Amino acid sequence: MTDDWNDYADGWDDNSDVRYYASRAFASLDEHLNLCGKNWRSKRVLDFGCGTGLLAEKVAPHVKEVVAVDTSEKMIAVLKAKNLPNVRAVHGDMLAGNVQEVEIGFSGFDLICASSVCAFLPDYSGAVAVLAGLLNKGGHFVQWDWQASDEGGFGLTLHQMKAALEAAPLGSIRVERIFEFNSDEQVMPVLIGAGVRNTA
Ligand SMILES: C[S@@+](CC[C@H](N)C(=O)[O-])C[C@H]1O[C@@H](n2cnc3c(N)ncnc32)[C@H](O)[C@@H]1O
Repeated sequence: MTDDWNDYADGWDDNSDVRYYASRAFASLDEHLNLCGKNWRSKRVLDFGCGTGLLAEKVAPHVKEVVAVDTSEKMIAVLKAKNLPNVRAVHGDMLAGNVQEVEIGFSGFDLICASSVCAFLPDYSGAVAVLAGLLNKGGHFVQWDWQASDEGGFGLTLHQMKAALEAAPLGSIRVERIFEFNSDEQVMPVLIGAGVRNTA
């Protein structure tokens, strides 16, 4: 493995594990928010750390617009080449405030998704707080990440996820194991973390 996500962009969509993760994430998103229902058709979504857009391309048919942001130029290039009609693919680091391409429309989201992104961030809690601030009141934040067995392991623990969502601050918090991978006799669980921006 290298630390540069650009190195994975070309073969990303050919990886069956990655596709499985995205399809399970989307299924749980629909179960959680009824995303395929008609209430979402006028809504705006941010797919934070979108990669090649495997989740964005599933969400887009059900909503008005998906803004898909990633710090990997090559991941974004793969997504742009898909020419998805209502997906705006943007290269940049929103957390560092250096997104040049789009100044307008970088807030006011009804839903922010982050699929297998947050555990890779140097300041996970700080990132959730920034993202929560981009939500409309009553807007939803939903993340999926590998579950760490303890605080030192890779991924996030149930406790870390719950604490970050509460601190953001988000309400109506849900944190639980949502699906898992079985590989080489090893079970790799995935957590869903979800919360809502206060309407007050
Ligand atoms: C494991 S991949 C997941 C990609 C995609 N969400 C998926 O499920 O296929 C992690 C992604 O997070 C992106 N990423 C890492 N740090 C980021 C940041 N600060 N802002 C936006 N994207 C970031 C990486 O470039 C990479 O594309």
